[in-house]
Amino acid sequence: MNRTRTDFDERYRKGDLPWDTGRHDKNLELVIREEQIAPCPALELGAGTGSDAIWLAQQGFRVTALDMSPTAIGIARKKAAAAGVEVEFIVADILRDEIPSGPFGFVFDRGCFHTFDLPEERSRLAEIVWRHLNPGGYWFSLIASSDGPKRESGPPTRSALDIVSAVESWFEIISLKTTSFDSKLPEAPRSWACLMRRRDKASTEH
Ligand SMILES: C[S@@+](CC[C@H](N)C(=O)[O-])C[C@H]1O[C@@H](n2cnc3c(N)ncnc32)[C@H](O)[C@@H]1O
Repeated sequence: MNRTRTDFDERYRKGDLPWDTGRHDKNLELVIREEQIAPCPALELGAGTGSDAIWLAQQGFRVTALDMSPTAIGIARKKAAAAGVEVEFIVADILRDEIPSGPFGFVFDRGCFHTFDLPEERSRLAEIVWRHLNPGGYWFSLIASSDGPKRESGPPTRSALDIVSAVESWFEIISLKTTSFDSKLPEAPRSWACLMRRRDKASTEH
């Protein structure tokens, strides 16, 4: 089932946000440190209430962060103001709307890629990210994994094949690791940490 702008916005209005820990994700901090990704113009997709965007800005990145939920972006703007950092927060649907800034050196999403149920939507997302990255730019995506015990609730899950099929034409996969989301749930959802580098030319041979 596809999640619409209204579905997500209603969850933000109700505060039904199991994914929102109020802190930046440890996996993001790890990849920035281990891969020595230097501060640059960065784009976050599906930024929610902005904890990761704010953390990136505090590390020196010039951050544009978008989400299709106006309520989430309203909360994120207040959090950034309270933290005294500048982030360009935009209400936008990444599959439909133009992104006014860019190009970027780093794109990040935590739980946005996995919301797209259709393979063609995920490939379209990969193409959009490719178009907005500089040559050699990185995309780091945290994606709920379909491996491990079946869950009754939690995020939509994707397989390694779902990820590779969507991104392979546009990105070289640098690493695809099993990890878990930082979470408020009693059992943290298993996830993929996928670091990709933009191909110079899109390849259709995969
Ligand atoms: C699971 S939440 C994660 C939010 C945030 N990244 C976090 O970790 O707290 C997924 C987010 O993606 C946003 N989203 C889903 N589809 C989107 C789209 N097409 N364009 C922009 N944002 C989208 C939702 O509004 C929601 O905030």
